[in-house]
Amino acid sequence: MKSPKASPTLVMNEKVNAMWADGKDVLHLGFGESRFPVHPALSQMFQENASQRSYLSSLGVPELRDTIAKYYSEKLGINFIDKQIIVGVGSKSLLYAMIQSIEGDLLLPKPSWVSYSSIAHLTGKTIHRFLLDDKNDYSLNIQALDKAYQDFISDGGNPTMLVLNTPSNPVGNVSSDDEMKSVANWAQDKNIFILSDEIYSLVTHEGFSHKTIAKYYPEKTIIFGGLSKHLSLGGWRFGMAILPNNEHGNYLSKSFQSIAGSIWSCVPGPIQYTAILAYSGNQDIDAYIKMCTHIHELRTNYVHRKLKEIGLDSPSPSGAFYLYPSFKKWKDKLEKMNIFSCQNLSEYLLDDFGIATLPGSAFGSDLNNFCLRLSTSFLDMETDEQAKNIIDAYSDDFDNFIENHHPRTALFLEKMSQFMALLNE
Ligand SMILES: Cc1ncc(COP(=O)(O)O)c(C=O)c1O
Repeated sequence: MKSPKASPTLVMNEKVNAMWADGKDVLHLGFGESRFPVHPALSQMFQENASQRSYLSSLGVPELRDTIAKYYSEKLGINFIDKQIIVGVGSKSLLYAMIQSIEGDLLLPKPSWVSYSSIAHLTGKTIHRFLLDDKNDYSLNIQALDKAYQDFISDGGNPTMLVLNTPSNPVGNVSSDDEMKSVANWAQDKNIFILSDEIYSLVTHEGFSHKTIAKYYPEKTIIFGGLSKHLSLGGWRFGMAILPNNEHGNYLSKSFQSIAGSIWSCVPGPIQYTAILAYSGNQDIDAYIKMCTHIHELRTNYVHRKLKEIGLDSPSPSGAFYLYPSFKKWKDKLEKMNIFSCQNLSEYLLDDFGIATLPGSAFGSDLNNFCLRLSTSFLDMETDEQAKNIIDAYSDDFDNFIENHHPRTALFLEKMSQFMALLNE
């Protein structure tokens, strides 16, 4: 039996929870959970639908599919119809079902989110990574992609799927329209599916807009999304995907029905009926999404700026709530401290500084690049009460929002400054 690997993000979260339970003070930058309270209208709708106890359609109830189609038609400027929409238990279940349904192997960016490779592994698919351009804010370079594609074929692989993710986890930036156009042309030429993970599409920072590759390559692009990030509803496990409106989409929809029907049957009734409200375009909910996104932006930009001031640079955040710095510059010093990889570095920061991070290797980066992924979403929002206080402070004390209401963020920056001083000794 092959031993299955647990998700590094969930493992880190459980480790931090255990440390907190033991009374240890840990600054948690190791888990990308958006922590804002449930919007009151959604909470109320959920309670009103508690009696929805029947098994429902695996694809999603018709009203929900229709509502989601209209919502994304407006957001993405593409005309979607209800039969293109499928819903799942978090977008992970949809990614799993799509990867399982499409014959062939996967091209994955390096770095990219931890679960693509583990899902590929579960479904018995092979992966081949192409390097994002770290000298250029981890943008996608077509030459590197094409070379990886050719190498994959030479190695006996059958690349039929390319995974893209914008805004990106772990880098925290958004892809440009030009990037999308050139990848779409390339993928069309190779006739491969694009699995476009757009779960952070509504968490883009001011001045940046989300672009979907489906605009340029609708015939073989599958868009993934859900409620986990922009509405902080990760634990509700609601995801959705938009299939192409053609024979590929019809096939994938049937295959999805078979997989969902065999494993989880359907998304729970109370969640499906509440999701109708979440995607209804309700003005108050949309304003809440904008506010939460702005708070992520302010906090992430602040940490980025302060880390830069102490010498630790990373690509400028333009979406989501992540930073992806590399400590490679300090390789010699780190090795003198018995830190030989990003994994060692992440362990060291947890043990000696009480800072939880994820090593870049979890995202496919090389161990000796010394990259860490930092998520700002937990800082000063560790408990539900703190999360509520952050919302109140944003509304009541905007001018001093960061300085006066983020003591744990300040502590993190102080500890990082001590660590950087050690590296520069
Ligand atoms: C890039 C990316 N895709 C998908 C997910 C998972 O989302 P869901 O909660 O919908 O399964 C995450 C969660 O961290 C993510 O970062």
